[in-house]
Amino acid sequence: MQIKKAAVIGGGAMGGSIAHLLTSVGIECFVKDVDQKFVDKAVNLSKGVYEKLVAKGKLAVEKAEARQALLKGGIQYDLEYMKDVDLIIEAIPEILKLKKQIFAELDKICPEKTILASNTSSLSLTEIAEEIQRKDRFIGLHFFNPAHVMKLVEVIYDQNTSPETLEEMMKFTTIIDKVAIKCKNAPGFVVNRILIPYMNEALLALMDGSGTMEEIDEAMVELGMPMGPFTLWDLVGLDVAIHASVSLEEAFGKRTPVPDILKVMVGKKMFGQKTGKGFYDYSDKSNKTPNTEVEKYLNKLWKENPPAGLDFEPERLLAVQAREALLIAAEEVAGAHDIDTGMVYGTNFPTKVAYGPLHWAEEVMGWSNVADIAEMYAIEVGPERFTLPSSIEYLANGGSIFINCTYEVDKNGVALVTVENPPMNVLSVKTVNDISNCMLKAIADPSVRVIVLTGKGRAFVAGADIKEFQQIMTLSGAKEYSERGQLMTNIIEGSDKPVICAINGFALGGGLELAMPCHIRIAADSAKLGLPEINLGIIPGFAGTQRLPRIVGKQKALR
Ligand SMILES: NC(=O)c1ccc[n+]([C@@H]2O[C@H](COP(=O)([O-])OP(=O)(O)OC[C@H]3O[C@@H](n4cnc5c(N)ncnc54)[C@H](O)[C@@H]3O)[C@@H](O)[C@H]2O)c1
Repeated sequence: MQIKKAAVIGGGAMGGSIAHLLTSVGIECFVKDVDQKFVDKAVNLSKGVYEKLVAKGKLAVEKAEARQALLKGGIQYDLEYMKDVDLIIEAIPEILKLKKQIFAELDKICPEKTILASNTSSLSLTEIAEEIQRKDRFIGLHFFNPAHVMKLVEVIYDQNTSPETLEEMMKFTTIIDKVAIKCKNAPGFVVNRILIPYMNEALLALMDGSGTMEEIDEAMVELGMPMGPFTLWDLVGLDVAIHASVSLEEAFGKRTPVPDILKVMVGKKMFGQKTGKGFYDYSDKSNKTPNTEVEKYLNKLWKENPPAGLDFEPERLLAVQAREALLIAAEEVAGAHDIDTGMVYGTNFPTKVAYGPLHWAEEVMGWSNVADIAEMYAIEVGPERFTLPSSIEYLANGGSIFINCTYEVDKNGVALVTVENPPMNVLSVKTVNDISNCMLKAIADPSVRVIVLTGKGRAFVAGADIKEFQQIMTLSGAKEYSERGQLMTNIIEGSDKPVICAINGFALGGGLELAMPCHIRIAADSAKLGLPEINLGIIPGFAGTQRLPRIVGKQKALR
């Protein structure tokens, strides 16, 4: 099913932005609110965005008008419109009873084919869907604010969501040009479950005297974070984020406590930038200063509980992210790569530091160091927040949290082998080994007739891992690396089952060499093929020099 016609319930901050997003890719959309003011606001938001695009010369007037005409709205359901609606996205306030009631209504009004989706940030999808019949076509689509700008969508499923609905919604997220991560229905899903404890840990470090707000903010920015945690609290709004924090405490207890200082600031209605005061004071617009209320609170706190006198280290906050990410992976709420992708696209985790908290732990720090850091804080500030799951033992002994190639077989015996090493699926040694292992399994699997090899995201495989390349210092090291790649390509070429390469994006260097031994290659229009390493004086080492002339002829191969 292609989503052509949608409705958004609730035209507030999220609903308006989601409705605009849908029309921007040519999907017709009806916004339903209880108040005409919000319907108008949603329509005007979209109009404003289109006008800006036209003014900047990025969109033709006619196209902008045509897209704008796709957006309608009202305070009553348009029953004629709803007769063949494909998708409903609900974005009404975070009140379980209200959401349940709305979905019960929608379940009756909508045709059988309609997929019902909620944009809830913290409620259980299973509970929201309690009163509907079509539980198989109910799902969470958690957009980030503003939805037409932020790239990430968490696609949340529970035990009742059918695999078809899940796949349909994953496809839909590519049509609306988003990066999607699959996530089981669980408290906080992925991003909030990692981000909120990280932000809370900064408050707890302030409370135990490890550093001032400015010192902690500066240390995190120096590490590479786009902004410090206190600045982030004030930007997000303490009133909004405390809800997520409370629901995590309800779910996970002392591991994710709501810091007392947060409750006090919210009690004083100091919500952050929007109220002029949060952890910082914004009275002087050009220069934020620490809110004196924070100092008052700390002086009182320390009179009764003198500060522990620890030094603040940024690793303390990142260890908390790694802990929660590890737990999410261990509980199979989401895969390790998806967790990191969520943090990169949902929170701007700085890719110059690492591609998300799990890559930071595995590649920047090393798991055994992460284990040591956690152990140290477990002693210094208490074990509740710094006990890592048991998987740390395997990881600290050289294991990896990542699987860089997966395969699944459909009912027709087609195995889909997907290379996944975000963001560009580069061929690290681990990726090469994982591809070889996956191919061997697919070839040996009697249920498999045909193998399709592709890459996840916007790249097929964008080449070798340059960082690893630079660490190869000896001739034997280079030989071993090349031989690993040759083994991988030989496995593919020697497969007695046809291997079809679906080149979905960049296939450069080793990536193109990976495509060469496949028996059939199909490239998307967006695919880019090449062996750019030749210009750097590097000879393709996975037998590309041999296979390419055979496939395209000597002249073209030389070119
Ligand atoms: N604001 C965010 O940053 C953010 C981010 C992700 C998800 N969410 C989630 O999105 C949902 C909406 O949040 P928001 O920030 O857009 O809220 P909002 O208060 O800005 O908008 C809610 C809208 O729903 C309307 N509404 C209330 N009852 C209704 C009903 N019975 N039928 C139709 N419309 C009704 C309101 O009039 C209002 O326009 C919540 O579940 C929230 O948790 C919010």
